[in-house]
Amino acid sequence: MIAIALKQLTFSYATTPIIDIDSLVIDNGERVFIAGPSGCGKSTLLNLISGTLTLPQKDDHITVLDQSYAQLTARQLDRFRAHNMGIVFQQFNLIGYLSVRENIALSTEFHPCNKTALLATIPALIAQLQLPAHIIDQPANTLSIGQQQRVAIARALIHKPSILIVDEPTSALDETATGSFMQTLLAMCDKHHTTLLFVSHDLRLASYFTRTIALNEINRVTHSEAR
Ligand SMILES: Nc1ncnc2c1ncn2[C@@H]1O[C@H](COP(=O)(O)OP(=O)(O)OP(=O)(O)O)[C@@H](O)[C@H]1O
Ligand SMILES: [Mg+2]
Repeated sequence: MIAIALKQLTFSYATTPIIDIDSLVIDNGERVFIAGPSGCGKSTLLNLISGTLTLPQKDDHITVLDQSYAQLTARQLDRFRAHNMGIVFQQFNLIGYLSVRENIALSTEFHPCNKTALLATIPALIAQLQLPAHIIDQPANTLSIGQQQRVAIARALIHKPSILIVDEPTSALDETATGSFMQTLLAMCDKHHTTLLFVSHDLRLASYFTRTIALNEINRVTHSEAR
């Protein structure tokens, strides 16, 4: 099955075109690394694929797991995302005053699975991500940035999504922590056959993936035009 299919996808925030991609197909289970310089549209592309940014035009430009986004209302799209995707945003968006456990639990709110069963897996998930067990009931804003990044990953994986979208997650980690973080992330994706879409400008990470896409090569909007 195809996980993500983009067709003649164009997007501008105002008048300046940011994205102009003729075609991109990502199969189920692929681990894709999207690389490109700052400002080239990586986060914009991820936000379009996750449906957190929507297109004004109602044609079949974005199809995820055989569902065209053009056929979904905003509410249906929110539900589709909650069921099928895990997302780690570049600013990872944890709610500072909520505990680690409460932050992770947010992902289960709109999920059809048994919520109690999902919540029971939080301690194991914390351990897999090599976070100390005692942080689970601490407010997120008392954690280091590196720890917060791993909590954001836990929140994105708790409901075992088909597609995991990760924007620049290792920026606050040192080299050793990055290596073990990547290995844990990939092992978890392998286990559940999760399709992974991962953005970074750190090209050294490309070796962890089955495919690397240089966004500037498939995006007809050049970096200088986008600025
Ligand atoms: N909400 C917005 N409104 C208007 N312009 C925006 C908005 N978000 C991003 N842009 C512009 O779109 C372009 C692409 O931004 P984007 O955040 O997708 O880049 P990026 O490749 O993720 O960069 P970085 O590596 O720094 O995160 C930039 O020129 C940016 O200024
Ligand atoms: Mg970005």
